[in-house]
Amino acid sequence: MTFDKAAARQAIPALSRCAYLNTGTFGPLSTPAREKVAEMMAYAEKMGPYTPDCYRTMLSELEQTREVIAETIGAESSDNIALTRSTTEGASIVAWGIDWQRGDRILTSTHEHTGGFRALQLAAERFDAEIDFWDCPDDDDARLLEAFEAKLRAERPRLVMFSYVTSDNGWRVPIAEMVPLAHRYGALFMVDAAHAEGQFAIDVGALECDFLAGCGHKWLGGPQGTGFLYIAPWLTGRLLLTWSGALLVDTAPDKGSIFEMGTRPWYSYSGMRAAIHHQEGMGRAVLEAEAKRNAQWFKERLREMPGVEILTPLEPARSTGLVALKYGAVSVPDLSGYLWDEAKISVAVWGERMRVAVAYYTTRDELELLLDVWGRVRKID
Ligand SMILES: Cc1ncc(COP(=O)(O)O)c(C=O)c1O
Repeated sequence: MTFDKAAARQAIPALSRCAYLNTGTFGPLSTPAREKVAEMMAYAEKMGPYTPDCYRTMLSELEQTREVIAETIGAESSDNIALTRSTTEGASIVAWGIDWQRGDRILTSTHEHTGGFRALQLAAERFDAEIDFWDCPDDDDARLLEAFEAKLRAERPRLVMFSYVTSDNGWRVPIAEMVPLAHRYGALFMVDAAHAEGQFAIDVGALECDFLAGCGHKWLGGPQGTGFLYIAPWLTGRLLLTWSGALLVDTAPDKGSIFEMGTRPWYSYSGMRAAIHHQEGMGRAVLEAEAKRNAQWFKERLREMPGVEILTPLEPARSTGLVALKYGAVSVPDLSGYLWDEAKISVAVWGERMRVAVAYYTTRDELELLLDVWGRVRKID
């Protein structure tokens, strides 16, 4: 399948207005996703939301989206999927769904994002469990796995939670090797897949993880406020229910959808499904390869720059399109404001760190523009 970048970019209107390098924060919405939301809203507007036809359509749309997500992430069935509003919501369902006992341990890392760990931290506080934010080795997977096994042996955590791709340094964590180790020591494994879905193929069947939380509003280009939680079949009927909604009182307890709370903007999930289909239409492996090629090229450019520390692993197998760096000093007080005002470049900047999201639609011209505009204010020692 050949990749038509110009056509791919045309389907994302925001790209014509700015250099959008911030997909790691919020992905730009694709036109097919927006059109599907609009189509479904117009349908509900015309029919009346609680009429037999519209209600049936709503249930069918939600179920189709669960099915498509199950298929794309390699889940056995849509029964293992809950539609959520975000990765954070998925992680929260798990955090509050485990029957924590005093002294239970949770193992996670210092790389995690609030969305993945905060609910776990709160649950640990409430139930007298312990959470260990491990400053794990991230420069060598073999060393990580060895240290991970030692941690498991020593701490015997009940749950391990790691990101598939870390938010702070764009490291693609060796989840596939970590899950069996965690299981060997009796721990459940939750994956924060906020930066995985839409970047590379996820296969929960092969991973055998227990939970995986992702979203539609980053790399998928879906509507904001869309996400999903995968719950392994053997756990779907066991995870405790913390909140509920009238729609789901008759739902069987072993269906993931039982964790979906109350009335929601169901059109958005149709939009999320359209976003997945849109990417599939272009070939997801093709999109992944395109993003990775450009991210590697960008990292090579950064390597030539004095004073820049690349935080993301250089090896393609240990990284994705998310590139984080430490940039040292600049002569402007607010770098992200400067980049926007000067050249309409959107990147994530925090402290002296910058995170550049290279997606399949990102061009080398955009990355060159960033280097050029930022280069004008860089202070090089
Ligand atoms: C690794 C990671 N997990 C979770 C989140 C939160 O995602 P959401 O807004 O879908 O809850 C983010 C957001 O950037 C993230 O980087």
